[in-house]
Amino acid sequence: MKKAILIGFGNVGRTLAEELIKLDMVEIIGVITTKGFFKNNSNWKSWLKELIKSYPNYKHEESLLEDVLKELDIDIAFVTIPPSYYNGEPNLTIYNKLLSNRINIITADKTGLSLNYENLINEANKNRLFFGYRATVMAGTPATDVAKGLKGRNIKEIKAVLNATTNYILSLIEKGYTFEKALEEVKRLGLVEPDPKIDIEGFDAAAKIVIILNTLGIKSTINDVKRESLLSIDEKDIRNAIEKGRKIKYIASYNKNKTKVGLEEVDYESPLAKVSGNYNCISFVIDEDNIITLTGPAGPALNTARAMITDLYEFHEKNY
Ligand SMILES: NC(=O)c1ccc[n+]([C@@H]2O[C@H](COP(=O)([O-])OP(=O)(O)OC[C@H]3O[C@@H](n4cnc5c(N)ncnc54)[C@H](OP(=O)(O)O)[C@@H]3O)[C@@H](O)[C@H]2O)c1
Repeated sequence: MKKAILIGFGNVGRTLAEELIKLDMVEIIGVITTKGFFKNNSNWKSWLKELIKSYPNYKHEESLLEDVLKELDIDIAFVTIPPSYYNGEPNLTIYNKLLSNRINIITADKTGLSLNYENLINEANKNRLFFGYRATVMAGTPATDVAKGLKGRNIKEIKAVLNATTNYILSLIEKGYTFEKALEEVKRLGLVEPDPKIDIEGFDAAAKIVIILNTLGIKSTINDVKRESLLSIDEKDIRNAIEKGRKIKYIASYNKNKTKVGLEEVDYESPLAKVSGNYNCISFVIDEDNIITLTGPAGPALNTARAMITDLYEFHEKNY
């Protein structure tokens, strides 16, 4: 059986571990987090069950990632570390180390691909390594598969609601909340990233549309995306739009080589207007104005972990 490590053991990492224990597709030989390296020396399933129960209070070493990668014979790494869009680190270094050590990757983290898709995927392809990233966009709904299926088509426009947190804030404002009260509420529900700017300033939605564009074959990085902050909101406009049969949504869009994230009015009956809860929606206008729309759940951790398992099936099928 292929040998795997988990890099990151938070909400998604631990849920993924629970799902992997139910399968016999890979053997988990270690877990790396900011606390250190947790190494299995016995039956991997019993060890991992114990680690899930007692993390982080479990025997571990202070080993560096490069030592772990050199010391162990690892086939594949599951990456579930937090994003780092400002300078990309340590995420970019982690991806580069994995690839230079000839380790296949399945990731839920968007950092590497939103900053450096071309180099990372080229490096993986050159070395015949698998780089699975279904979980990075609309985790749980196969948005990247739809994008792959549209490669080579004339992509006239994309419009998408790709960040559930900002979408929920807007729905609360529609109900009469102020922006500040709505933000407090999403923080109370644990829906916002530890650094709220990632949602509110549009980094998360920008990273996702960039991954979709690159999957379609349109080269782009998160630095090409014009981001309008949700803070620019006028609460009255949000409520007035509904009276006009419209809705204001926080939309990631692509049109004529311009990519942006910002507030946009959409028709009340459109699929983009209707998306709510943890659902996301992406709409592609292709060729002779044909429209292809995909709506579905984006998270939480269990859906994200399951999207990573779908990547694992692809990894096995392709016989890497
Ligand atoms: N939650 C979702 O539904 C969802 C959906 C799609 C994508 N994602 C993405 O999935 C990733 C994980 O999300 P999460 O909710 O599981 O985050 P989380 O609960 O904050 O867990 C992050 C984990 O990464 C570890 N970590 C942080 N920096 C690290 C480093 N440099 N090296 C090794 N480990 C490191 C943390 O270590 P400690 O335990 O020591 O703190 C923690 O175990 C994020 O990139 C997120 O954007 C999440």
